[in-house]
Amino acid sequence: MEERIKKAKIVMEALPYIMRFYGKTIVIKYGGAAMKDPVLKESVLRDVVLLKFIGMNPILVHGGGPEINKYLEKQGIKPQFIGGYRVTDAATLKVVEKVLGGKINTQIVSMIKKMGGRAKGFWGKKGKIIKALKYYKKDEKGNRIDLGFTGQVAGIRYRYLAKWMKLGYIPVLTSIGVGKSGKTYNINADKAAAAIAAYLKASKLILMTDVRGVLDKDGKLISEVNSYKAQKMIKSGSISGGMIPKIKSSLYALRKGVEKVHIIDGRIPHALLLEIFTDYGIGTMVQK
Ligand SMILES: Nc1ncnc2c1ncn2[C@@H]1O[C@H](COP(=O)(O)OP(=O)(O)OP(=O)(O)O)[C@@H](O)[C@H]1O
Ligand SMILES: [Mg+2]
Repeated sequence: MEERIKKAKIVMEALPYIMRFYGKTIVIKYGGAAMKDPVLKESVLRDVVLLKFIGMNPILVHGGGPEINKYLEKQGIKPQFIGGYRVTDAATLKVVEKVLGGKINTQIVSMIKKMGGRAKGFWGKKGKIIKALKYYKKDEKGNRIDLGFTGQVAGIRYRYLAKWMKLGYIPVLTSIGVGKSGKTYNINADKAAAAIAAYLKASKLILMTDVRGVLDKDGKLISEVNSYKAQKMIKSGSISGGMIPKIKSSLYALRKGVEKVHIIDGRIPHALLLEIFTDYGIGTMVQK
């Protein structure tokens, strides 16, 4: 009996957080790097289903970097990145669409359904949620770097997304956007998630990855980082690779009115619940 009362008390401790986020939109970027362990994957998705059933509006945007790289290498294509962005030629785009859309998205949707949740998968031309245009990166001299079919977000069909959420679905999105001419573009999933959070005026954007958060040059976790400190760390090279688009997307979302942005470790079991239902906060909170 004692034990059961204890359990009931633990459930009750969540009440203030449930009340705070009831009906609120939470965009979760689920990084490819944190998807590798199937047991963990199931637990992440179960957390998302729980959020939905207690009255929040979670949206899942997924990556798939490691899986894409595996398939590219199988075909003898060497994955190429510049400043954390994938260089996407036609052959790479085909693989990205097949792996992200055909494989990972479909799998996540079916896993959520098996758990008793309602999920709706959107990718590429399906639903055309993410409108895209070509993205040019600039080098230090300001010259354009051509990244091929790597895109940037031009707009989000957020009302359409909201409609599905109201019907009780968890939208599951792949970061493939569609251009005006119907051409598809590969978009960094952090950027796509930030744009979706901005358009939907989300309360929270959570970027789940495979590191504890933003680490300093000694590998120590930084629990809060602001724009000034982050820019300095990018310049000095202590923030590099895939962490660069993560920081840039976080700052963009904050500028657009998203209330809170967190970069958390997807390898920790129930990282999402720990982030939302406790005051301790895990990982790194990004501030303006
Ligand atoms: N200062 C830093 N702190 C933490 N991670 C950093 C830092 N600088 C660079 N990184 C790198 O950023 C990586 C996270 O970005 P990455 O794009 O690889 O993963 P993801 O975004 O979670 O997955 P995907 O791109 O497949 O969606 C870390 O694994 C780490 O190697
Ligand atoms: Mg990434």
